[in-house]
Amino acid sequence: MKKILTGLQPTGVITLGNYLGAIKQMVKYQNDFDSYIFIADLHSITVFQDPKTLRENIKSLVAIYLACGIDPDKNTIFIQSENEYHTNISWLLECTAYFGEMSRMTQFKDKSSKNANFSVGLFTYPVLMASDILAYDADLVPVGIDQKQHVEIARDIAIRFNKKYGDTFKVPDVMINDKGTKIMDLVTPTKKMSKSSENPKGVIRLLDEPEVIRKKIMSATTDSESCIKYDMENKPGISNLINIYSSITGLDKEEVIEKFKDSNYGNFKKEVADVVVDELSKIQNRYNEIINSYEIDKILDEGIKKTRDVAKAKYELMKDRMGLGR
Ligand code: TYM
Repeated sequence: MKKILTGLQPTGVITLGNYLGAIKQMVKYQNDFDSYIFIADLHSITVFQDPKTLRENIKSLVAIYLACGIDPDKNTIFIQSENEYHTNISWLLECTAYFGEMSRMTQFKDKSSKNANFSVGLFTYPVLMASDILAYDADLVPVGIDQKQHVEIARDIAIRFNKKYGDTFKVPDVMINDKGTKIMDLVTPTKKMSKSSENPKGVIRLLDEPEVIRKKIMSATTDSESCIKYDMENKPGISNLINIYSSITGLDKEEVIEKFKDSNYGNFKKEVADVVVDELSKIQNRYNEIINSYEIDKILDEGIKKTRDVAKAKYELMKDRMGLGR
């Protein structure tokens, strides 16, 4: 059975973008693949996180996975930092990755330009991500399009390592949701919907109250026309809402456009709000039941037990291939 693997950073506000870009894909494919989903807490500390809040967010994200429909019987669920072999592997890979290729990562360029005192971890972050993926010989990595470049660099690193030291890693492929690859900010629809956005009105959080979600969608930025058409360049706001509607309902963009061809923007927004609120309310109800359940620890214990052995074996193989130790 082929393997899929993905991770999300536990940085508090899990967004509709995270859900539609990554989690929903995992739910969709969990019956067909050997599935791994983890909490990328090591990635989150590339920028400062308050320790107490981080620990709460880690647990909350596991509950979110389960509430979204990630089935613990079909997925291996674990916390990245509990498996020390990810960072061990990462060092070995760092020594095969090039400064030049890391410097070209769009996300690094973007984030480092916003803060002069960025951490070295922000720079080496894609190598740790490659370790997460390569440790398990994942075939496919479901992510939003903003992470595509990082999966591609993981491929490059795997190919290079295999060439230098002999076949060690499976070369992974990226898996992008074909419906609404990138969910954009509701206020500034030319920008991706992001946890770190300055304006909370543009970002739908998975745990936002239904009324808050409704308000955000109803006041989403649109254009001065009144036709529901998909045109990311000239009508980014409406196109984003089409993407959201399509991703949630599973309808193609064309079907969405046909369905709303006679609607005005107000009616269309209301319908988008309805499907989002409906989907997220169900998730929130389940979340509230799960968050204080002991099952979470049991699931994580099982996850780490299984993944530590696998990642350790990969680390030992790498060391052997590289001539490290005795
Ligand atoms: P993170 O936590 O930034 O995002 C988690 C997932 O959500 C997707 N995503 C989006 N998709 C569509 N529209 C958006 N607006 C949007 N915003 C975020 C991201 O593409 C991602 O799939 N480095 C990763 C976590 C990670 C990982 C890995 C992923 C660590 N190791 C190994 C896959 C495999 C990250 O920071 O994602």
